[in-house]
Amino acid sequence: MKRVIAIYPGTFDPPTNGHLDLIHRGSKIFDELVVALLRNSEKTPLFTHDERLSMLGECVRDIPNVTVDTFDGLLVDYAIRKNAKAVLRGIRAVSDYEYELQMALMNRKLDPRLETIFMMPAETYSYLSSRLVREIAMLGGSVHGLVPELVEEKLKQKINQPGTRKKAPRNSR
Ligand code: PNS
Repeated sequence: MKRVIAIYPGTFDPPTNGHLDLIHRGSKIFDELVVALLRNSEKTPLFTHDERLSMLGECVRDIPNVTVDTFDGLLVDYAIRKNAKAVLRGIRAVSDYEYELQMALMNRKLDPRLETIFMMPAETYSYLSSRLVREIAMLGGSVHGLVPELVEEKLKQKINQPGTRKKAPRNSR
């Protein structure tokens, strides 16, 4: 029997409950879901690659058909290497649509074998983004309920770490 593998790519800086919501939804639709962390993003992340990988791993530990991996280079090349048929992306609001459409169509142009599947997170998370989580945490606000507890803890540690900038980077969602 054919197993359908999907890739859920992103920068996950940090993983939020919105990401987790989408991972749970995706895990019910696909036989296997690979949460794929982009290694070399143009963005300057708050959390290192290894920190994000470890947080993601913890977050999905109890979902049997979900794994976490990293990738470099083009998403379509990685997806084909993983025998994936689909890329999963979340759309929270109309504002996400333009960027996501552009990416989905460009990925289709690069490799028509790959389909992008959009899912909507629970409406509770429709205003939630990693960028806002970073900003709130850096400015001393509470992110309780917005991120998994282990991420909340890591954010507290990160803020108190000497050398961490006290202003969140603005260039990622
Ligand atoms: O969480 P993000 O930052 O919105 O995720 C963006 C991501 C990682 C999905 C996107 O930047 C990506 O796929 N990068 C890999 C390089 C690539 O394939 N670029 C062409 C996209 S059309």
